[in-house]
Amino acid sequence: MQAGDTPEFGPNSDPNEYKRWELTQAIRGYIPPRFRAEIHIPQEVIAWAKAGRGAGGIYLTGPVGTGKTHLGFAALAEWCRITETVPRPARYDTWDTIRFGPTVHTVRATALLDQLRPGSNDARQVVEDCQGACLLFIDDIGAEKPSEWTQEKLYEVVDERYARCLPLIVTSNLPPRSLAEHVGERTASRLAEMCTLVPLTGPDRRRPQ
Ligand SMILES: Nc1ncnc2c1ncn2[C@@H]1O[C@H](COP(=O)(O)OP(=O)(O)OP(=O)(O)O)[C@@H](O)[C@H]1O
Ligand SMILES: [Mg+2]
Repeated sequence: MQAGDTPEFGPNSDPNEYKRWELTQAIRGYIPPRFRAEIHIPQEVIAWAKAGRGAGGIYLTGPVGTGKTHLGFAALAEWCRITETVPRPARYDTWDTIRFGPTVHTVRATALLDQLRPGSNDARQVVEDCQGACLLFIDDIGAEKPSEWTQEKLYEVVDERYARCLPLIVTSNLPPRSLAEHVGERTASRLAEMCTLVPLTGPDRRRPQ
């Protein structure tokens, strides 16, 4: 059966099979097409995912094109499979009265901080979604232009997740020692404690060798 085909479910089907299929479809739909191909997942990333809801963070770092974002999504998919978390965006209940935040939230650091600039109407909501998601994936931290404001907002997100021991995936071109200059000492210190460091090496995979 091809990925994406709907299996036939009959009266004798395993009742959990449909649930598993639905989860696989939801994970696949969540991941951008470029990053859906299966890749090798390093042991420390598997170990991180296996910790499930109790997982800390992983910090995927390396030069341009070494596969950080792709591995970030592969880690996210593995974690969702293990915890049986359906990656859902924020949604309202049937009466539009209660808002549920996203279960899994992926943000590019640059876009995130754009949404958090002074004057933005939904900045509070954006911060809360990042703080409260079961899993947060921040892609390309340190690529944003640092300012006191962006550092403070990022700190609000990271500090809350740090306090609540919530799982986090971070990718960055910056090695951890250079991170403080970009995100501030307090955020860098928390990330250092929360995250297993996963260095990626090798050539830029986008360029034929
Ligand atoms: N382990 C892998 N095996 C095969 N292809 C891979 C692997 N990891 C990544 N790729 C592919 O290599 C390309 C670059 O990957 P990716 O965008 O994840 O790199 P990156 O490290 O995030 O780059 P940047 O620093 O520019 O953000 C993509 O086409 C991706 O699908
Ligand atoms: Mg990337």
